[in-house]
Amino acid sequence: MLDQLPLLPADPILGLAAAARADSNPDKVDLTVGIYMDEAGVCPVFEAVQLAQRALIDEETTKAYMPAAGDPAFNTGIQKLVFGADNPALLAGRVSSIQAPGGCGALRIGAEVIAAAAPGARVWVSDPTWPVHIPLLGSVGLRFETYRYYEPASHGVDFDGMLEDLKQAKAGDVVLLHGCCHNPCGADLSIEQWGVIADMAEAQGFLPFIDIAYQGLGDGLEQDAAGLRLLASRLPEMIVAASCSKNMGLYRERTGATLFLCRDSASAEALVSQAQVAARRVYSMPPAHGAIIAGRILSDAALRANWQAELEAMCQRINGLRSELRSKLESETDRDFGFIEREKGMFSFLGLSKEQAQKLRAEHSVYMLDSSRINVAGVNARNIDTLARAVGQVLQG
Ligand SMILES: Cc1ncc(COP(=O)(O)O)c(C=O)c1O
Repeated sequence: MLDQLPLLPADPILGLAAAARADSNPDKVDLTVGIYMDEAGVCPVFEAVQLAQRALIDEETTKAYMPAAGDPAFNTGIQKLVFGADNPALLAGRVSSIQAPGGCGALRIGAEVIAAAAPGARVWVSDPTWPVHIPLLGSVGLRFETYRYYEPASHGVDFDGMLEDLKQAKAGDVVLLHGCCHNPCGADLSIEQWGVIADMAEAQGFLPFIDIAYQGLGDGLEQDAAGLRLLASRLPEMIVAASCSKNMGLYRERTGATLFLCRDSASAEALVSQAQVAARRVYSMPPAHGAIIAGRILSDAALRANWQAELEAMCQRINGLRSELRSKLESETDRDFGFIEREKGMFSFLGLSKEQAQKLRAEHSVYMLDSSRINVAGVNARNIDTLARAVGQVLQG
């Protein structure tokens, strides 16, 4: 029975990362996968994570299952982190959450709850969006519509196109929005534009589903959540999928949460029960290690200050790299790369053709996606000149 199943192609991003690893060129540049790399090209463990982890190992007395909704300190901490500690909806008990295995698990649980409320609901996704959104949400039977988002010519948001498309979103529809640091394009909405989306959600009755996987890596923890908090201040209901993979470096620990903003506290409680039943169907119980660490960091003043300082330094480094990359690329080419500085977070489309991206790989060992999406956080002092020179040569033909 099983032998009839064919070998499937590798995930395009992971496949490219594997090709980069296998490349023996000592000057290769790998900008494929979206993980934060430091100057040494290493994805580091936060010091606060190391400290919390050591304490946990000394103090841990059991490996019994976690509560079905996950670590209570983590849930409280992530709710405050996402919505703001003094958010009136939070204080009124209108927010609840369930710990999930990473942002992916959080998206899937959110999708399961949406499918329970409205089987086959339509989800509006940005063009482009993170490709994994489609299987994560589609596998529960949700259907997709696309709204215009990225405009290659300006390297910014096609906001008029987005509004025109979202005018068709109705009550019972879901609109998936990237909370900050849009993946793959790095072009984010301004706070005024978030306000317009809030007006539309209020008038049309659609449900916003916010994916926030990069909080703290755009402008800062508070600034990056400002858009979703604006929606939360105006709307009765909303779902958020949060991830601690990037902003706490807990990638492999699978640490995230699905958060529900509800009309009242009874509904908030009901949604956690729905999410728990959905989780039971999919993976049963949440993983402990990462969430307990994150819960400790979020609830202990010293650990939190340590974490925030390191996160701020990462955020500043990414923004510094954006400026440096812009000027290096502009000195090697006759193109305007100012957009790299305007974008937020880890990603940017360099605006190269598929053929040019492939030529960069074949002739210069510079790895980026065929769409020319780069992970800006993979750039460092050792590879930035190679990257800029290679792009310059490829653009000259
Ligand atoms: C837009 C977006 N959402 C969600 C995630 C989920 O991340 P994870 O499941 O690793 O926490 C990612 C990870 O790359 C992402 O880019």
